Amino acid sequence: MNILILGRGKTGSLVAEAARERKHEVRVLASAENPHGSALTADNLRGIDAVIDFTTPAAVIANISACIHAGKNIVVGTTGWYDELARVREMVESSGVGLLYGANFSVGINLFFEIARTASAALRHQYFGQIFERHHAHKKDAPSGTALMLQKAIRESSGKDLEITSFREGDVVGMHEVVFASSNDDIYLCHDAKSRRGFAEGAVLGAEWLAGKKGFFDFRDVWREL
Ligand SMILES: NC(=O)c1ccc[n+]([C@@H]2O[C@H](COP(=O)([O-])OP(=O)(O)OC[C@H]3O[C@@H](n4cnc5c(N)ncnc54)[C@H](OP(=O)(O)O)[C@@H]3O)[C@@H](O)[C@H]2O)c1
Repeated sequence: MNILILGRGKTGSLVAEAARERKHEVRVLASAENPHGSALTADNLRGIDAVIDFTTPAAVIANISACIHAGKNIVVGTTGWYDELARVREMVESSGVGLLYGANFSVGINLFFEIARTASAALRHQYFGQIFERHHAHKKDAPSGTALMLQKAIRESSGKDLEITSFREGDVVGMHEVVFASSNDDIYLCHDAKSRRGFAEGAVLGAEWLAGKKGFFDFRDVWREL
């Protein structure tokens, strides 16, 4: 595939590496080359099979809109824009492109969501639950998109909204914990990302999966098919 990656940051660079290893043709655009999504015209995107966005919450909506207008499928790894989810979904569904988004493209964290969903049965048995998330000091959004997805997964299976506490420190890649505490015992669930490679590989597999598809997809629902 011909893949255009938006963002030459910590994750975008690894996505480029992972895509090249899977024998894709890769181009990367940095912010200076693409202010407000201006590089994403139909002309510039001719020959591109998929765009992958790992930019910033401030940049991502303009990038998504430009890809939709150019009729290009897009994989969105960027987080911090989910209050716009309904509007973006409508734009995608009325346009005939494919969009795959995910707060976390690692297979491990998606398994973790399922474990948390199952363990949330504790909330029906006098346990009190909390979510903690830790990320590097430069992360722009808080709580993390992953913590919000975790909260949603637990809400869907238990009807209860757990409080999220965020820590920003050092160079932590991404740690998410769920604690269920009762007067008898505590249950600790923890997912600790060791590197960003898991996200990058998942995003590339996601772009391959999205090829030829139309519609609005959440990585959480499709990762088993990769
Ligand atoms: N879904 C997942 O699995 C997953 C995993 C990791 C990270 N993320 C999310 O992905 C996003 C990026 O994370 P990161 O850690 O890689 O951040 P980062 O290192 O700060 O990289 C973001 C990059 O985006 C560039 N950028 C900004 N606007 C742009 C535009 N219009 N066109 C092209 N590039 C643009 C920035 O360039 P300048 O520095 O020049 O502005 C920067 O290099 C965040 O929202 C993060 O939460 C998601």
